[in-house]
Amino acid sequence: MSMAVIREETSADVLSIREVTTAAFASSKYGDNGEAGIIEQLREDNVNILSFVAEIDGEVVGHVLLSPVSLTTESGINSSIGLGLAPVSVLPDHQGKGIGSQLIQAAIARATDLGATLIVVLGDPAFYAKRGFQDASDVGLRCEFPGIPEGAFRVCILDELQPVAGGVVKYCPQFSV
Ligand SMILES: CC(C)(COP(=O)(O)OP(=O)(O)OC[C@H]1O[C@@H](n2cnc3c(N)ncnc32)[C@H](O)[C@@H]1OP(=O)(O)O)[C@@H](O)C(=O)NCCC(=O)NCCS
Repeated sequence: MSMAVIREETSADVLSIREVTTAAFASSKYGDNGEAGIIEQLREDNVNILSFVAEIDGEVVGHVLLSPVSLTTESGINSSIGLGLAPVSVLPDHQGKGIGSQLIQAAIARATDLGATLIVVLGDPAFYAKRGFQDASDVGLRCEFPGIPEGAFRVCILDELQPVAGGVVKYCPQFSV
């Protein structure tokens, strides 16, 4: 397992984050769906994001982003409930060495410190189950996007004392373009 240094992004990382994100998704089963552009649009729109890079020997090899998500309950009440983890990327040559896990752990730790109640994610059920994310439908949360595979929408509950009201979770509109 290679140990990367995880730190918050700076303005000097913007291009590296674009490159890492594009390379990671282009070589994945999902393909490149403009994830790098979503990150840049969120920054441009001054959305309150948390963005971390993984660095090895001064090179950015991984990245993870947290952005606010909101919840619409069955009774139509909207609330801001936590954060969405997306996208997460590791350069293809550096995958499978624990760097993605390190980035996700760092994101969970910071979100916990900041008092967030939960983090949602859309992704491989087995991968995220091992990293603390349970099936979101177990706590009554659904994703706004249609056609999500069974078990792919997951949640990491950070504050067990805060009851989670069921409903539909919405990412920032920048994710819907
Ligand atoms: C998803 C991603 C961020 C994971 O990063 P990573 O650094 O490879 O993650 P880790 O090394 O911590 O864990 C990878 C898992 O795949 C396994 N693995 C083994 N060989 C691997 C390989 N060549 N490539 C990727 N994963 C491999 C690891 O053993 C580990 O399995 P585990 O869940 O049983 O522990 C990375 O693969 C990536 O950038 N993928 C493309 C973009 C993407 O799909 N993002 C996620 C969308 S939700």
